[in-house]
Amino acid sequence: MEKIIEENKQGTSLVLEQKEGNAKKLFIESYGCQMNFSDSEIVASILVNQGYNTTQNLEEADLVLVNTCSIRDKAEQTIRKRLEKYNAVKKINPNMKVGVLGCMAERLKDKFLEEEKIVDMVVGPDAYKDIPNLLKDVEDGRDAINVILSKEETYGDIAPVRLNSNGVTAFVSITRGCDNMCTFCVVPFTRGRERSREPQSILDEIQDLWNRGFKEVTLLGQNVDSYLWYGGGLKKDFVKATDMQKATAVDFAQLLNLSATQFPKMRFRFSTSNPQDMHVEVIEVMAKHHNICNYIHLPVQSGSTRILKEMNRQHTREEYMTLIDNIKRIIPDISLSQDMITGFPTETEEDHLDTLSLMEYVKYDFGFMFAYSERPGTMAARKMEDDVPDDVKKRRLTEIVDLQQVHALEKTKRFIGQTVEVLVEKDSKRSSEHWSGRNSQNTVVVFAKENYKPGDFVNVKITDCTAATLIGEAVGYSEIMQS
Ligand code: SAH
Ligand code: F3S
Repeated sequence: MEKIIEENKQGTSLVLEQKEGNAKKLFIESYGCQMNFSDSEIVASILVNQGYNTTQNLEEADLVLVNTCSIRDKAEQTIRKRLEKYNAVKKINPNMKVGVLGCMAERLKDKFLEEEKIVDMVVGPDAYKDIPNLLKDVEDGRDAINVILSKEETYGDIAPVRLNSNGVTAFVSITRGCDNMCTFCVVPFTRGRERSREPQSILDEIQDLWNRGFKEVTLLGQNVDSYLWYGGGLKKDFVKATDMQKATAVDFAQLLNLSATQFPKMRFRFSTSNPQDMHVEVIEVMAKHHNICNYIHLPVQSGSTRILKEMNRQHTREEYMTLIDNIKRIIPDISLSQDMITGFPTETEEDHLDTLSLMEYVKYDFGFMFAYSERPGTMAARKMEDDVPDDVKKRRLTEIVDLQQVHALEKTKRFIGQTVEVLVEKDSKRSSEHWSGRNSQNTVVVFAKENYKPGDFVNVKITDCTAATLIGEAVGYSEIMQS
């Protein structure tokens, strides 16, 4: 589950172990990217210490929090609808308080308190530690809002509780914010400047997960390749760092190398990579360690150099292709996935054909494709007209999605006859007699359970497949990974 926007997870309410003595009930729901789901775990950890236990029953909640997404207009509309639902419940339970967290809180700020009368509290992504104070403001009848973006906050000192966990795979965030300023994207405005978390606190969190039986960690950030620790501070201030700081700085390739070396039986993934920041060192570290998965989510957004330039992506079509060539040369067994935006302002039929031909060149294993949605405040919204008609956007999107499906099936089929290493995660959705897990390339594999259990690394001989799932038979434990 590498991808940020997982449709089947949207709106999941999160539940954790109940702490004795906690009388108040928290209902927390998350939308959007994996980082939001991860942040909700941080918020829940903070509130456990404030007397709250989580509930999955909205009607009985004292506090309802919704962690929101602004990436496309549709995401915001979904959340507005949820607020209507909360409003209906609040009529039955007038003591219930409602808080908006995350990117919409940041984007709309005090407008929320004015427009959505049911909202009692508005908290931006860098202000979660202030929630206990904000709750006091709510109790005292004051407006409770904190949308201050921070240059330092990484929540590195908070041990997140794991909500709705399978006990096998977990996410560990390593950077927050983004400095890239892609012209279509609202993230730099809602999540603030890019900052990296101290490596030791990352390694400590991985150690803790290992001690509790977890077997796979996904290092998380808007742009993980840009990770840089030199004692704290913003990435853009690195030029001003002392010689000592520069000499002891840790970049993403080093962090990955450190993690994979220190935890040889823990499997590692990371997300998301940005082509402009993904250097050959990272690919070499991946190739060196068996326990770093052969999978890269490498959004490209468009196959046209002209559109890439308008998007302020810092690379051309050709540079991206060279990166792909290097990746495939160093890791022949790699799987790749994309994010694509269709119908960006001024996109012509020719640009669209460039996107299709780039897809043919790369042959992505997975893809996440979206019609362009203008976001207020972004450079594209300010400077460019959203001039591709909806029906054209839709038609181009369908063509992209259809092509991706052809490639996905082709890529899945290549495993038939091979034996792949699978980390068992949970019951297969279709049958309780089968386990479901993923291979290194992130493809879902199902096989008969026998005596294997979640958390085991099992070699599975692939006999069949559907478009997105491999079907096989276990042939034994993985000698390399099984501890
Ligand atoms: N670096 C981030 C990107 C977050 S946004 C990451 O962790 O993946 C996820 C994807 O949403 C982007 O890659 C892009 O394809 C899409 N997206 C962002 N802004 C968009 C917009 N205004 N309209 C349509 N899609 C958008
Ligand atoms: Fe958005 Fe571009 Fe950053 S897509 S999250 S501004 S890399």
